[in-house]
Amino acid sequence: MTAKNPLYITKTRLPEPVVFSRYCKDILQRAWLTNNGQCVQDLEHSLSKYLGLSQVLVCNNGTTALMLALQCAGLSGKKVAVTPYTYVATLSALLWLRCTPVFVDIEPDTFCLSPELLRERFQQEPDIAGVLPVHIYGLACDVESLEAICREYGAVLLYDAAQAFGSRYKGKSLLEYGDYSVCSFHATKIFHTVEGGCVVSHTAEAQAALSLARAFGHINDRHYSLGINGKMSEFHAAMGLSLLPGTEKEIAQRRHLHALYDAALEELSLVRPARLAGLEYNHAYYPILFPDEASLLRVQRVLREHNVYPRRYFYPALNTLPYLKAAWRSPCPIAENAARRALCLPLYGAFPPQDAEAVAALLIRACRTGDTHA
Ligand SMILES: Cc1ncc(COP(=O)(O)O)c(C=O)c1O
Repeated sequence: MTAKNPLYITKTRLPEPVVFSRYCKDILQRAWLTNNGQCVQDLEHSLSKYLGLSQVLVCNNGTTALMLALQCAGLSGKKVAVTPYTYVATLSALLWLRCTPVFVDIEPDTFCLSPELLRERFQQEPDIAGVLPVHIYGLACDVESLEAICREYGAVLLYDAAQAFGSRYKGKSLLEYGDYSVCSFHATKIFHTVEGGCVVSHTAEAQAALSLARAFGHINDRHYSLGINGKMSEFHAAMGLSLLPGTEKEIAQRRHLHALYDAALEELSLVRPARLAGLEYNHAYYPILFPDEASLLRVQRVLREHNVYPRRYFYPALNTLPYLKAAWRSPCPIAENAARRALCLPLYGAFPPQDAEAVAALLIRACRTGDTHA
């Protein structure tokens, strides 16, 4: 089988044109395009309601949201423990803030930052001021252990929850955990605003500091602190307002596709990241692990030859990036190994189930036979 049209890892979810146009028409009538306009305020309100959180501050993208949270948490220029198994933006935000990254390896089952190794690292380096774990693939970190360690050492706990929108743990949105939590609303995500993101915080002071920093750090002629342009435009917020009501359906469709992949690929006994008990997963990604990098590359090549384009999420492990200072590149063998072996299969709500079945069949044949003409 060769797919007639390319099957990409994801496809952007689009709103009903009539719904989006209605918001756009209102924006044009108000002639208020940015600077905390009506749509941004409505989106923050709707997100708070959907997520069950009181303080959600939307931003122009997830990377800026991370930078704002790091800055307002007082972590600028400090040592921050971070997982090496994530998208590069997690680390970029730290480096733009002149933080020193302290890479802590992941757990072999959840692929999230290991609390055990974090504790060891704190014992060696008690001056670590913050911890930046990632709910990778929208799966939950061991939030209870991480919280306990951060409290013990007086460190700020800031989650990169970029992929975790819609995931819930023990009855609460995953974004509720930590001192701060940051999400991305990029067009590839389950819920998006084309480009966008948010910071979740838990005190009025934090919310005020974030709001100030998002708009250059000044109010009228009074300048209070370092800021940046982190504002979301009205049109981006309108996309969010148009898409938010369909999010549960999107998650349900992805859940169905997950089940389909699970059943179709059962015979391969593939290694997959573990879900903690108590997690209601958003089914954002479908990662699989190959026995080694050579087999991943071979299967990826076969799939591409048949017009199927999975992605290597997340490769390479960030502690191995060439532009890091040598002193920062501590070995993280579990993350480095996972990064070499992980491949994400095409998955999005509108992905036709028969295409998922075809991808699975192709994958099985490629794995079994090594046949490049499967
Ligand atoms: C884990 C992680 N962190 C940060 C980001 C950055 O978000 P954005 O693309 O909205 O800047 C992303 C997504 O792209 C991500 O997946």
